[in-house]
Amino acid sequence: MERVRDKVVLITGAARGQGRSHAVKLAEEGADIILFDICHDIDTNKYPLATPHDLTEAGLEVEKTGRRAVTAEVDVRDRAALTRELANAVAELGGTLDVVVANAGICPLGADVPISGFADAFDVDFVGVVNTVHVALPYLKSGASIITTGSIAGLVAASQPAGGGPLGPGGAGYSFAKQLVDSYTRQLAAQLAPMSIRANVIHPTNCNTGMLNSDPMYKQFRPDLENPTRDDALLAFPAMQAMPVPYVEPEDISQVVCFLASDESRYITGSQFKVDAGAMLKF
Ligand SMILES: NC(=O)c1ccc[n+]([C@@H]2O[C@H](COP(=O)([O-])OP(=O)(O)OC[C@H]3O[C@@H](n4cnc5c(N)ncnc54)[C@H](O)[C@@H]3O)[C@@H](O)[C@H]2O)c1
Repeated sequence: MERVRDKVVLITGAARGQGRSHAVKLAEEGADIILFDICHDIDTNKYPLATPHDLTEAGLEVEKTGRRAVTAEVDVRDRAALTRELANAVAELGGTLDVVVANAGICPLGADVPISGFADAFDVDFVGVVNTVHVALPYLKSGASIITTGSIAGLVAASQPAGGGPLGPGGAGYSFAKQLVDSYTRQLAAQLAPMSIRANVIHPTNCNTGMLNSDPMYKQFRPDLENPTRDDALLAFPAMQAMPVPYVEPEDISQVVCFLASDESRYITGSQFKVDAGAMLKF
């Protein structure tokens, strides 16, 4: 189909999960991919993040499609490193950048997480998105597309009072950051529209990745159990969605990413895409 033929795409958090799925899908559709990932853990986030091996594998999967991949270990909190690595990667791929997918994220859930968890979630999930977009802006031209990853958690939190609770400070930071990603993307879209550059946000519900399949998330969904397993959580996951599914797959998000990256969506900007199996219908 080659829906994004010869476009150059930057994806953060690309070593695994949704980011890797987007990378492979867009490569299959004809794009060259820049894959960034932190590839080490963050203390307050009590499940493992991607490894250098994951990032290498993701790059190889892209190359298997016949397209080019440039990988780099970059923390989206580090704007200087992002600037440097993006300049190197863009130069390697011919000097242009057409699509930005600001996808990297952490979810440091838990009542026992220290207050630094709030800062970490905010820094990765909001500041990291801003850093990614802002280092990319100088390369983007008419026809470019920016796609940010929010979360249904942000939309739900926007309609509820802030507070403590079982999410803990990291969970609160996550929800707040995702709320801001939503409004930031709309502000950005308004600024970029006169240049014919688009910006849209995708809000996934539960998605079948390492973030969801993690002990802190199992505890969130099964607060009645001391050490819940995935099987225990699977009984509770469907409560989030209106449709009878426990989660969506990364590929379900990639379909929307591909549409927004392609010229099929050339006049769509400032929009919110919920891939949530009806989750928001419940609120
Ligand atoms: N999985 C879900 O249920 C769900 C639901 C809604 C939204 N999301 C969002 O989707 C996005 C992708 O997450 P996922 O579901 O694929 O989870 P994931 O944990 O599998 O992937 C996240 C990736 O981001 C990377 N990352 C984390 N911190 C980083 C940093 N500081 N710099 C660079 N890379 C970093 C990780 O190493 C990992 O590869 C995130 O923004 C997440 O908040 C996920």
